[in-house]
Amino acid sequence: MKDKVKLIFEGKTYELPIVTGSEGEKAIDISNLRQKTGLITLDPGYANTGSCTSSITFMDGEKGILRYRGIPVKQLAEHSSFIETVYLLINGVLPAKEELNNMSVLFNDNSLVHEDMQIFYQNFPRASHPMGILSSMVNALRSFYPELETIEEEINITVTRLLSKVRTMAAMSYKISRGHKVVYPRPDLKYSANFLNMMFDTPVRPYPIDEDLVKALDVFWILHADHEQNCSTSAVRLVGSGRVNLYAAISAGIAALWGPLHGGANQAVIEMLTDIQNDGGNYRRAIERAKDKNDSFRLMGFGHRVYKAYDPRAKIMKKMCDKVLAKLKISDPLLDIAKELEEAALKDDYFIEYNLYPNIDFYSGIVLRAMGIPTNMFTVMFAIGRLPGWIAQWKESVDDPKWKLGRPRQIYTGPIKTDYIPIEQR
Ligand code: SDX
Repeated sequence: MKDKVKLIFEGKTYELPIVTGSEGEKAIDISNLRQKTGLITLDPGYANTGSCTSSITFMDGEKGILRYRGIPVKQLAEHSSFIETVYLLINGVLPAKEELNNMSVLFNDNSLVHEDMQIFYQNFPRASHPMGILSSMVNALRSFYPELETIEEEINITVTRLLSKVRTMAAMSYKISRGHKVVYPRPDLKYSANFLNMMFDTPVRPYPIDEDLVKALDVFWILHADHEQNCSTSAVRLVGSGRVNLYAAISAGIAALWGPLHGGANQAVIEMLTDIQNDGGNYRRAIERAKDKNDSFRLMGFGHRVYKAYDPRAKIMKKMCDKVLAKLKISDPLLDIAKELEEAALKDDYFIEYNLYPNIDFYSGIVLRAMGIPTNMFTVMFAIGRLPGWIAQWKESVDDPKWKLGRPRQIYTGPIKTDYIPIEQR
């Protein structure tokens, strides 16, 4: 018998169907609740609300499990490349060799950005945040690449353009912000190597491609590639549900990711660790402030809406810190502070009680710093990694025959009916 729940309200009994996922997760299907009962549900922050069914990413927050299309993210980080993971997320299967090569060729063919876009970059104030620039420039892509004839062309070419151009746009933004000559993508370099070269190659000092750093960047982006219905992905789905073009929906996702509670946390972690360093390394003060309910300070990079165990991505990222720093023969005092802070926090009753563990943002900034990425570009790096996930989730919603405009309801708590009072009588 199909699972059901009974709801008793005002003396009447209603039956509501239960939906069961492929990993045994269960939900009450309330799609007809208001029609049947006149009731809606209320769930600020949607902590108990599923917005969709999806076959892209599975997370188990209690067990710290993360899989893309069923494959554990740890295996993809060890054996796959970012481009192969992009293909997996968007197409649902790992690519054959030829499919992977074809995608690389498409990325190269679409990696240039319209020259007129450089004028836009040059007119942003120098201190502009790269996330604000990226969100604006991705939205501007529609102006340069108008809608294509068929929906298939529109989706396939737009997806390729976005995935390929976003790294060129990010590197271009960095070079122009420093008053340096823009470096163009090279057809002989693969995705991540091309990005590093566009960022750091200069006419006076050619950038030496280091395969270990290229692999580290691939892993960084694989770990960020998707994360089911997080804040920015939900923004992409909701904005996309209005049938707006993909560039505009992705631009909304970039804006949502920017916040320090979400993707902006990787920048906030480095700023927090730097403050602790400037405070003589006093990480215990940071822990006490994080526990003080009268202090708005939060331990950035700690806690998660879904993970109530160690974020599996943070484990991999922490190991990568040691690997990248050893390879570059550098040490970073912020890494030592981060490890001491983590050790102390994980033993603290408050963090144990609230199930607060390091999330992906706690160590990711250390890896990016070591690679020479400026702190204000850390969330741009997150956005480049998350782009395939946003696209896969948007495409899944477009392909859903039940795809409809997202429009939540509310419970009104304002003044009851009142009459207008002319200004003379107020
Ligand atoms: C990302 O959703 C995703 O999947 C996101 C992400 C992805 O890949 O897309 O994983 C990427 O955004 C990771 C999270 C990055 N953000 C941070 O590191 C910012 C610091 N973390 C917190 O702000 C917080 O943990 C959130 C926002 C991440 C989650 O918070 P929730 O689920 O809304 O929980 P909450 O804010 O209601 O906190 C519950 C309790 C509160 O105490 P009470 O008011 O109930 O007494 O836990 C406390 C909070 O004060 N708490 C923290 C804390 N996180 C939660 N206290 C101190 N420091 C923290 N970091």
